[in-house]
Amino acid sequence: MAIPWIYIEDIPKTKKEEIELRGWLANKRSSGKIVFLIIRDGTGFIQGVADLNNFTQEELEKIEKIPLESSIIVQGKVREEPRAPTGWEIYLSKVEVIYISQEYPIQKKDHSIEFLMEHRHLWIRSRKQQAILRIRSEIIKAIRDFLDERGFVLVDAPILTPSSCEGTTTLFELDYFDLGKAYLSQSGQLYMEAACMALGKVYCFGPAFRAEKSKTRRHLTEFWMVEPEMAYWDWQDNMRLQEELISYVVQRILERKRRELEILERDIKPLEGILPPFPRITYREAVELLNRKGIPFQYGDDFGGDEETIISQEFDKPVFIHHYPAKIKPFYMQPDPENPDLVLNNDLLAPEGYGEIIGGSQRIHDLNLLEEKIKENNLPREAFEWYIDLRRYGSVPHSGFGLGIERTTAWICGLKHVREAIPFPRQIYRIYP
Ligand code: 4AD
Ligand code: MG
Repeated sequence: MAIPWIYIEDIPKTKKEEIELRGWLANKRSSGKIVFLIIRDGTGFIQGVADLNNFTQEELEKIEKIPLESSIIVQGKVREEPRAPTGWEIYLSKVEVIYISQEYPIQKKDHSIEFLMEHRHLWIRSRKQQAILRIRSEIIKAIRDFLDERGFVLVDAPILTPSSCEGTTTLFELDYFDLGKAYLSQSGQLYMEAACMALGKVYCFGPAFRAEKSKTRRHLTEFWMVEPEMAYWDWQDNMRLQEELISYVVQRILERKRRELEILERDIKPLEGILPPFPRITYREAVELLNRKGIPFQYGDDFGGDEETIISQEFDKPVFIHHYPAKIKPFYMQPDPENPDLVLNNDLLAPEGYGEIIGGSQRIHDLNLLEEKIKENNLPREAFEWYIDLRRYGSVPHSGFGLGIERTTAWICGLKHVREAIPFPRQIYRIYP
């Protein structure tokens, strides 16, 4: 009978003793008459043992010389081995080299971040990067499960758009045939506003593009965002959905991605307490908090990364900041009826100094007010005619938000920089690989 090909992660549940693995040589060491191979196959790592019982001296010497990252297919008997790093070991009877690797550029010694980023296409093979990508994948799945279970409909927003959404200073511009300029989408929000008037509760999930001049640890020029939008929901309903979503995602990762969090040496204590309700403070209270800490921050300015870090360090849970001055926020936000200088919006700052992961608001539903704001902001009215239409035909109060996948992943994984939270980061000074 043929020996079955098994994935490493399925070894604990397989009833087969004798198996085949197809993967790559991640590491090796040799102690005289025994060669230890660390084999990875994408689902995990396992130690393989080759000795003189199954191989000749000559064969062992050959195995010992297989270069790292060569692709190999091995066969052998699996057994539980408490001393092995993963608790399992394969006692090898056959080692077949599929492709001999050239000298692998990423060795164990410490490489600079520049070098690793330059070799991102190979770096993702390493244990920690794999763990991050697996957690990212589960975060996305958790978000979608959460929204799907609550009756939201996924509506894909266009990437090529005729107008801005989040201000005109960060637009990527391109020529669009005979129709003039087009722009890479900064956000699917405006289209979700149309979609929620059709389907009630909707979300889009896709890439967003910002020609950000900033080189901070929180900014990418291409990032992924999930954007729910709900007809008839006000700004407070909106915040409740956000805290439930974030709590659900964090608890799901704790439940299903323990091993990956361990590989990343993430302290999970702070994550265990991420449950509703989250604290809520106003923009004014946030400014006062900064001033109390001796930061000379002016009411009316926008928070930068440093201020966000200081504010979020004051709380064990993510913190909502609501009621920002309208002046520092986009045109579409609904003014507070009690003080039209403020808007019914919120940012959500992740704890441990991570800062903003969500931006959301109630949207303007009044036709005249929206027309005024478009004029005030010098936006080209023709490009927004369809968006204004939504206020002509059955307009209702509605709300939504955008959650950044990379910032959320960086926080949950405990990463210093968002560039490791996306497979192939795009930054102001990086478009390769
Ligand atoms: O606060 P932002 O700009 O909000 C919007 O785009 C709204 N239109 C969303 C909506 O209401 N539907 O962006 C939302 C989130 C941020 O909180 C952040 O997590 C992420 O998107 N984000 C970025 N992530 C990485 N790099 C960048 N340059 C980012 N800009 C925003
Ligand atoms: Mg924002």
